[in-house]
Amino acid sequence: MDLDKLMSKHLSRYFDGSKTIPDETLQQLLKFLRSAPTSTNIQPNHFYVVSTQKGKERLAANLGERFQDNAEKILNASHTIILTTRADVTEHHLEAVFAKERADGRFADEAKQERWESMTRDFVSLRKYSYKDTYHWMEKQTYMVMGLTMMAAAELGVEAMPLEGFDPISVDKAFNIRATGYTTTVLLALGYPDEGKQYKTPVSRFEPERLFTFA
Ligand SMILES: Cc1cc2nc3c(=O)[nH]c(=O)nc-3n(C[C@H](O)[C@H](O)[C@H](O)COP(=O)(O)O)c2cc1C
Repeated sequence: MDLDKLMSKHLSRYFDGSKTIPDETLQQLLKFLRSAPTSTNIQPNHFYVVSTQKGKERLAANLGERFQDNAEKILNASHTIILTTRADVTEHHLEAVFAKERADGRFADEAKQERWESMTRDFVSLRKYSYKDTYHWMEKQTYMVMGLTMMAAAELGVEAMPLEGFDPISVDKAFNIRATGYTTTVLLALGYPDEGKQYKTPVSRFEPERLFTFA
């Protein structure tokens, strides 16, 4: 990955609609996405990988009236991932996380797994009853997963463009997402840039003095 190149380029807003991510590359990216860590291993996400013409059209048509500018990006992207987040942490979900950890042999012995489960329950309870931010906490995990996936995409030579310009109510409805207990957080369009439309001006970011405090 060329970090110098990455930090001096604009996000691609326009994709070349004639190019498709090879399946091997996509599988590697999804494998990486799946491996991304989340707080307490809560894994609050489900991902819709939209790549068919029908799927792209359905997503593009349901961004909401004020976000029509983003429709073209989705139609020309090779794939768009709808990153959804659980609306709540249920006992059923916690049991599924713990059962998978046991099956994968995450901890060397039973006592450690049990201590971990107790700590996780305690932390989830803190978010729910003290901080009252369970959903916000889980969405933060979603953004971290997206950030890591953007870096992995760069490593694989794929352009990744996050999109917050959409109406989640409309997208949830179009893909029948809420019935599953999840709701849309953010979209990640993936593909190859339309070089002719790529911005060539310098990127604009605050100076280090404003950003960093060294203590
Ligand atoms: C989380 C996130 C969501 C974004 N959503 C949109 C979007 O919906 N539509 C769009 O055109 N750009 C979107 N952008 C692009 C930003 O506006 C852009 O990255 C920012 O203005 C900096 O510009 P640059 O990448 O050209 O340096 C998004 C960027 C991020 C990080």
